[in-house]
Parts: sequence; structure tokens; C-alpha cells
Amino acid sequence: MNRRQVIRLSLLGTLAAYTGIGPVRALARTLPLSNFENELGRYPFALPSLPYANDALEPVLDAQTFDLHHNKHHAAAVANLNTVLKDQPELHRLGLAELAAHYAQLPETVRETIRNNAGSSLNHQLFWRILQPGGAKQPIATLKEAIQIAFASLENLQTKLTDAANKRFGSGWAWMVLDAQGKLSVISTANQDSPLAQGLIPVLGIDVWEHAYYLKFQNRRADYVKAVLASLNWTQLEVEYLKAKALI
Ligand SMILES: [Fe+2]
Repeated sequence: MNRRQVIRLSLLGTLAAYTGIGPVRALARTLPLSNFENELGRYPFALPSLPYANDALEPVLDAQTFDLHHNKHHAAAVANLNTVLKDQPELHRLGLAELAAHYAQLPETVRETIRNNAGSSLNHQLFWRILQPGGAKQPIATLKEAIQIAFASLENLQTKLTDAANKRFGSGWAWMVLDAQGKLSVISTANQDSPLAQGLIPVLGIDVWEHAYYLKFQNRRADYVKAVLASLNWTQLEVEYLKAKALI
């Protein structure tokens, strides 16, 4: 680990110590997330287009769910986030990743609304990207090697993700994340919480809210999770992994 990386980790690790000097100054110290923000934009946030047609993953994942999920659920999160930020000009220079990662330091009156809607806006963008049709059907390049080190096999990773997704009570997400030491692991979060709030960088996310699957799969979440795992674009996941690595 070089000196720059040590400084970055130190800034992340000691962020909580800055809470006494005000939320905006504290958030300004989260420099590693700036790589994400260039891609994600700033207030007022826009709903990114789905990078493929609603029916692109038929018959495995259905067009009506993609339409509602993107144009209603994801869109509502972006709209709600803009509404709550409208009266918080001091937060306008913060990006989605910074808001989702450090919601706990935001003003109490807007904290939960930003937590939920910045998280949702951020999480769904990753979800759409990694389901882009095409690309490799198996891990490739550096991510293939990292999965081998962390999980011993793709099958073990899939088992862990399936377990995390199916055991998440209520609404939430299952994730493969990268920690500050560069190690991959599987976690789940409740509601729309981003792994960034735990200092973990999301590489792969599976939305297990009922809105993601109920039209086609009803109560069969396990079948939906299997369908998502079979639809992943591993070329894009390599890109996400390299982006995550660049933050540590
Ligand atoms: Fe969703």
C-alpha cells in the first residue's frame, strides 16, 4: 500500500471523528468517492435512461417489471431526493455516493429521506448496468482472479449471494462488496442502504424488494434471484470491480 492509499484509508476510517465540525465540512473530506460522482452527477439529479430496452432480458426478466421498476420506483427516488434537497443548498455540491455513504452526518430533519432516496438512486444505477444484455457469462480478467481468492469458486460466490438475498427479511439488497483491504465479500443491507455507509464499495447488487420481482415471480424470490444471477453481464462487472478498486 502506497502513502496515498494510506492517507485515503485514514480519511475514511476517521471520518466519524469529524462529526463535531459540521456535516458539510466532514463530507468534504470523503475524497475517494469523487471518482463515482463524476459519473453520477449532482443536484438536481436526473433519472438516467435504462441502458437497454425494457424487454431486453425477456423471457427471464419481464418487460413490465423493468418499466415499472425504472420509470416509477427509481424515478420516484430521484424525484424525492431532489425535493428534499431543494431546501438544503449546502448539500447541493454532494454527489449520490457521498449522500448515501454519510447520511448519518446529515441534518436530522432530512436524514432518513436522503438515506432512502440517495441510496435507491445509487443502488438502482448499478443494478441496471450489471444486467446489460451481452458481455461475458462468467467472471473475466481481474475479477475472476479476485473471486477465486475470496470465494474459491464462482459457485461459492453464487451460493453466498443467493443465501444473502433469500434471507434478507423484508426489503433490501444482496451485495458483493470490496473492502478497504481489497478483499471481496458478500453482505446484505436493509431497505435502500448502500454498502458505502459501512465503508464497503458495492461491485454487484441484487435488488430484493418485491417491486423487483413480484409481477413475474410473485412470492418466489429464490427463482428471481436465480434469474438475476443467470443474467449478469460479467464484462460490466469487471468494469465495476476496477472502479471499486480505484477508490481504495
Ligand atoms: Fe428496486
